[in-house]
Amino acid sequence: MLRKILKWTSGVIGVLLAALAIFYFVMRMRVNGKRDKIYDVEVRMIDIPSDSATIAYGAHIYAIKGCSDCHGANLGGKVFLDDPMIGLLAAANLTKGKGGIAKDYSDRDWLRAMRHGLRKDGRSLLVMPSYEFCQFDDHDMASLIAFCKSQPAVDNELPVFHLGPLGTVLAGLGQLPLIPAEKIDHHMKQTAKVERAVTARYGQYLAASCSGCHKPDYKGGDSPIPGGTPVADISATGNVGKWTLQQFVTALRTGNTPEGKQLKNEDMPWKMTNNYTDEELHALFLYLKSI
Ligand code: HEC
Ligand code: HEC
Repeated sequence: MLRKILKWTSGVIGVLLAALAIFYFVMRMRVNGKRDKIYDVEVRMIDIPSDSATIAYGAHIYAIKGCSDCHGANLGGKVFLDDPMIGLLAAANLTKGKGGIAKDYSDRDWLRAMRHGLRKDGRSLLVMPSYEFCQFDDHDMASLIAFCKSQPAVDNELPVFHLGPLGTVLAGLGQLPLIPAEKIDHHMKQTAKVERAVTARYGQYLAASCSGCHKPDYKGGDSPIPGGTPVADISATGNVGKWTLQQFVTALRTGNTPEGKQLKNEDMPWKMTNNYTDEELHALFLYLKSI
């Protein structure tokens, strides 16, 4: 009897292991297929100025859009996730230094990366959130690229991107935003310049950068990172609906909310939102209150 049970259980375990191995193999194939896909896109060229006012404004965009969280304040790139299960993710060195990508980078290459999420050879970049950046108007994009191009060379060679077993399965199931190019409308025609003013319209344009975490309807929900802190509702139906402009500004500059909560920068990046100007925060506030 016992022998029969043992035989039966080991048979079941064997079948389960085989199923698991096949599942993992399928996920790997799927992810590799997506990584190797070549996108043939038409990159719309825009003029990239090089005057100091444009570069200064580009530095502001670099700060408020969180580029430095991944690429570092000096653009030298860094490892921003190193987990044996999920993998090793490094954001590129954007300078002309050793290990940097900018040595032989043209304006077309910058635009291809920022607006299409693609590297020079037409394959998708990995994890780089170009699906948000592709929404920038021409003015913001040109200023941002002008700033990046103007920065001094940094020597920093980064380790090769590597996906762990959990990272592979999550990416295969579409639970990790691994392949930006597949989330982008490659025929999108961005406006030349959204009008800068304390208006809900401008706030809506700025809020696109919050939608990756707070969801396109700004009602929050699950974290985009598996197992991360749930994301708050920041539309009029959430706490923000009850806040004054001053309370909103304080929350986004210090992480202190009127309800007495101290937001953690790792959950809600207030060290990034701290860089928004008064005008930009006011416009964001008007828009969020209107939803
Ligand atoms: C969530 C992290 C993250 C943020 C935020 C981010 N990047 Fe990246 N970026 C990456 C990663 C990772 C790569 C490397 C992708 C690869 O090599 O597959 C990358 C690659 C790039 C590349 C292309 C490099 C190449 O190999 O062609 C450019 C250009 C770039 N980023 C610019 C920016 C700018 C400008 C911003 C801010 C608007 C920004 N990134 C914000 C993660 C990020
Ligand atoms: C990287 C993800 C991420 C981004 C980007 C992000 N947020 Fe958040 N935000 C969060 C998370 C997570 C919370 C909830 C934190 C908590 O509950 O401790 C939060 C909380 C908040 C709160 C507090 C809400 C409350 O009820 O206390 C406000 C306000 C807020 N975010 C506004 C914004 C705005 C405006 C932007 C864009 C400029 C933005 N966030 C971008 C992740 C993000």
